[in-house]
Amino acid sequence: MGFGVLGVKLLAYCSCSNTFQEDKRISDRPMVPSLERVDIRQGLCYYPRRGAVPEVVAPFLIQRGADKVAFVIGLRCRECAREYPVEPLNVCDFCFGPLEISYDYKAIARVISRQRIADGPLTIWRYQDLLPVDAENAVDIQAGFTPLIKAKNLGKVLGLDNLYLKNDSVNPSFSFKDRVVSVAATKALEFGFDTLSCASTGNLACAVAAHAARAGMRSVVFIPSDLEAGKVIGAAIYGPTIVAVKGSYDEVNRLCSEIADNYHWAFVNINMRPFYAEGSKTLGLEVAEQLGWRFPEHAVVPVASGALLTKIWKGFDEMVEVGLMEGPVPTRMYAAQARGCSPVVDAFNAGEDMVKPVRPNSIAKSLAIGNPADGIYAIRTMSRSGGAAYAVPEDEVVEGMKLLAETEGIFTETAGGVVVSALKGLVERGAIGRDELTVAFITGNGLKTQEVVEDVVHPLTIRPTMEEFEEALHGLSAAGR
Ligand SMILES: Cc1ncc(COP(=O)(O)O)c(C=O)c1O
Ligand SMILES: [Zn+2]
Repeated sequence: MGFGVLGVKLLAYCSCSNTFQEDKRISDRPMVPSLERVDIRQGLCYYPRRGAVPEVVAPFLIQRGADKVAFVIGLRCRECAREYPVEPLNVCDFCFGPLEISYDYKAIARVISRQRIADGPLTIWRYQDLLPVDAENAVDIQAGFTPLIKAKNLGKVLGLDNLYLKNDSVNPSFSFKDRVVSVAATKALEFGFDTLSCASTGNLACAVAAHAARAGMRSVVFIPSDLEAGKVIGAAIYGPTIVAVKGSYDEVNRLCSEIADNYHWAFVNINMRPFYAEGSKTLGLEVAEQLGWRFPEHAVVPVASGALLTKIWKGFDEMVEVGLMEGPVPTRMYAAQARGCSPVVDAFNAGEDMVKPVRPNSIAKSLAIGNPADGIYAIRTMSRSGGAAYAVPEDEVVEGMKLLAETEGIFTETAGGVVVSALKGLVERGAIGRDELTVAFITGNGLKTQEVVEDVVHPLTIRPTMEEFEEALHGLSAAGR
């Protein structure tokens, strides 16, 4: 037993998981002793686990909290706002709501500035003040600060004069997942884990294996057994143990939750999820910075679990909160899914705030989550921001990939095809106006899903003579190509 300073606040928590902070009552139940009034060694918790009549149930365990991470207050339940210490936890004991990081924004506002960010590294770590880990010991393979390009050609085809593409497909392991894993791996080391793990639709497995290699950790990644070769090889090269599960992602995830209860491993998207999800904020922060400290009017984002969409908006919101930007955030958030797995889009369009799980059957395997953990938060974010949701017909996924490659020279995977075709659909529907500042998030690389575009390959195969070359060339012109 001992006590520690968590950010600037004293925090104590009981072995029954109730949390107390300074003299302030966190729970809404009565009879809370203040730290001053409680003998820390003999301290008694007045809260029973899960809502019975208040009684003395357990002695306090008071531990050291967030240590060096100055701006983190703790974890907070997104539903009931109960607070928890900084630990590898992801679910509220009381209401089963997801936990997320709570920050001392006033303290952040005192140190953060556009200049401080500009002076930082050209990676996600330039936003370290808004991340829940100690950046000095970052597991860093240089994720982030990817290109934001003005898409004149694609814009012309779609009827948009102010379209930008955030090309996150060129991260070190070739998807935006490097952002989330860099944060989660750093925290996993802080917590003393030696094994990094995940339930993945493909890209996450690559990012986990890559960061574990860099950190000198063991990695065990779980994937559905029917993933594209590029994803499996793209993970295997870093030397993880790959567990290929005969089942859907949702079944993989269920299995991993069970394993996480029994093995002391850092599952980046399960017990490390509050820390992991914060990495996605950097996509929002980065886009606003790259736009010259402006928010886009529209953001089109691929959705699987819904964390990415939710956190991009959280990033925008925090920029206002800490004084980097003027509020309110004007950005409308749009979810893009493929029709073969569109539970978030379907719920939003039906006006429901709960997501009905589906069994995925989609070419966009990276987005094939039938029971999305952050689905309801993605829906809330769309509603709050005045956005919308769009499900792309399956045959338009590849069309979107080809359109992007042919107009802008970017080879994206199926998730990017979903985004481009959803953008097209949203423009046709009149949701996005010609002059409005729009960013489409391209989050994964086409080299990982090559099999879906094999039909683009038709080389002129010739012997090495001028004659054969010219004959082939004439054949091309005759065919009008
Ligand atoms: C390339 C790509 N884009 C987007 C997503 C969606 O992310 P989220 O699960 O946070 O909604 C994923 C998820 O795996 C992905 O692999
Ligand atoms: Zn709760």
